[in-house]
Amino acid sequence: MSYYKILGFKKEPFSTSPDPEFLYLAKDHDTVLVNTLIELRLRRGLSVILGDIGTGKTSLSRKLIQELSQREDFIFHMVLDPGFLDEEEFLKYLLKNFGTEANSSSLIDLKETLEKFLFQKGVIEDKTVVLIIDEAQKLNPNSLETLRILLNYETNEFKLLQLVLLGQLELHTKIMSIPNFLDRISFKYTLNPLSKKETAEMIEFRVRKAGYSSKMHLFLDEAIEEIYNYTKGYPRRITLLCHKALKELILRNRFVVDAKLVLDLIEKEKKTGWYSQLTLPKAETGE
Ligand SMILES: Nc1ncnc2c1ncn2[C@@H]1O[C@H](COP(=O)(O)OP(=O)(O)OP(=O)(O)O)[C@@H](O)[C@H]1O
Ligand SMILES: [Mg+2]
Repeated sequence: MSYYKILGFKKEPFSTSPDPEFLYLAKDHDTVLVNTLIELRLRRGLSVILGDIGTGKTSLSRKLIQELSQREDFIFHMVLDPGFLDEEEFLKYLLKNFGTEANSSSLIDLKETLEKFLFQKGVIEDKTVVLIIDEAQKLNPNSLETLRILLNYETNEFKLLQLVLLGQLELHTKIMSIPNFLDRISFKYTLNPLSKKETAEMIEFRVRKAGYSSKMHLFLDEAIEEIYNYTKGYPRRITLLCHKALKELILRNRFVVDAKLVLDLIEKEKKTGWYSQLTLPKAETGE
């Protein structure tokens, strides 16, 4: 029997997969979701979401896709790992994933085909074409330049391609290094870690979402206090620590997570040496 069933859950409450059902809309997450959807509806072009490691970018992108897939007037594609070598590879990838093909591999041909496709969908069929790029800090300068060019495809009223870039903080530096890219951004936002109150709410949200129905709080306030102090409100760290806390709960044959249990886990984690890594992960640039 899975550990979470022993505690009365129907699903795993602290899985680290970016399941949109388990996304708690903290203030920042809500702001990003609402504003990005507005920008897409208005077809204003480019939204950029920055955030430190594990702040919820991928989870938000899944939520966005969940929203878009309920609408028939949106065509979208999500790029998970945008480490394209050159412009040709990137353009071919886009054409393939939008279900179209150029007559040759020349850059002019590839771009023209893409522009025609975007015109057909956007103007003739009145659809909104959206490209969401996760891990956008991995885009190299020539891919960013390609995106800048794609943003030039527009009618008098709207952009033909809607772009949502989600990336770690170094994406900002990359964007700054491309002339004229910054002023094309119609919505930009940096996700911050959760506050203490939001940390408590996120834990409660996930616990309830997973089917825990007891009136008792599974995590005592004193435990949440320690979780917040240790994780500094970073959602991935919260999720990992809560997952460990529940496993420990079962091992100890207990039913509520208190401060002592959390502090014991933190102590153990620090001894393994993993603690220092949690505080200084630096993303690869992908170059
Ligand atoms: N608002 C939230 N509510 C509930 N869980 C969240 C939230 N944000 C993030 N998480 C959880 O935190 C973990 C990390 O989130 P996610 O993978 O979305 O972060 P990320 O910003 O994409 O990280 P990275 O920079 O490493 O790509 C996941 O387990 C996810 O479920
Ligand atoms: Mg991610």
